[in-house]
Amino acid sequence: MIKIITAREKETFTLGRCIAKVLEKGDIVCLTGDLGAGKTTISKSIAKEIGIDEYITSPTFTIVNEYEGKVKLNHFDVYRISDVEEMYEIGYEEYFFSDAINIIEWANLVEEIIPENNIWIDIRLGEDYNHRVFTIKSGNSFVKEKVNKIQNLWNEYKNMEESNENIVY
Ligand SMILES: Nc1ncnc2c1ncn2[C@@H]1O[C@H](COP(=O)(O)OP(=O)(O)OP(=O)(O)O)[C@@H](O)[C@H]1O
Ligand SMILES: [Mg+2]
Repeated sequence: MIKIITAREKETFTLGRCIAKVLEKGDIVCLTGDLGAGKTTISKSIAKEIGIDEYITSPTFTIVNEYEGKVKLNHFDVYRISDVEEMYEIGYEEYFFSDAINIIEWANLVEEIIPENNIWIDIRLGEDYNHRVFTIKSGNSFVKEKVNKIQNLWNEYKNMEESNENIVY
């Protein structure tokens, strides 16, 4: 488990890119946490890093939006589903057990159907208005190394930022 604090939206975007760099086909990214914490911001930055130029918005009416980048990306927002049954109705297995990367906002609401090979990211509002606290966990031992890599990439970014304040990352 790792804990990372971002101090502004742009930093969250950078963190999203660090996360995207460790993702492979079939990976599942679960996003939970406070309202307005930054789940969609992270989703957008992951999409950007995997080469999706389309404008990413939360799939409010459809549960899932599908995108084509270097790999396929399925972006779920399950905030409005009233029963996990609705996930069966849309045939969630076709998405979760595929070659795509899946991102699920509000994953806690459908936790029982989420495969173990997930990277679980909980985002909380921080002490300062623009601070966000990220807790990132691996669902099983196969993705543990990926979580460690996210920490390493983040440390690299932080070190670079310290040594060169003008860096464009
Ligand atoms: N450090 C930060 N990281 C991310 N977003 C931040 C940060 N500081 C401020 N913000 C603001 O917080 C908001 C995050 O919105 P976003 O839609 O990503 O959250 P969300 O968790 O998806 O919300 P919802 O619960 O409605 O799905 C944006 O308005 C953004 O500008
Ligand atoms: Mg959102």
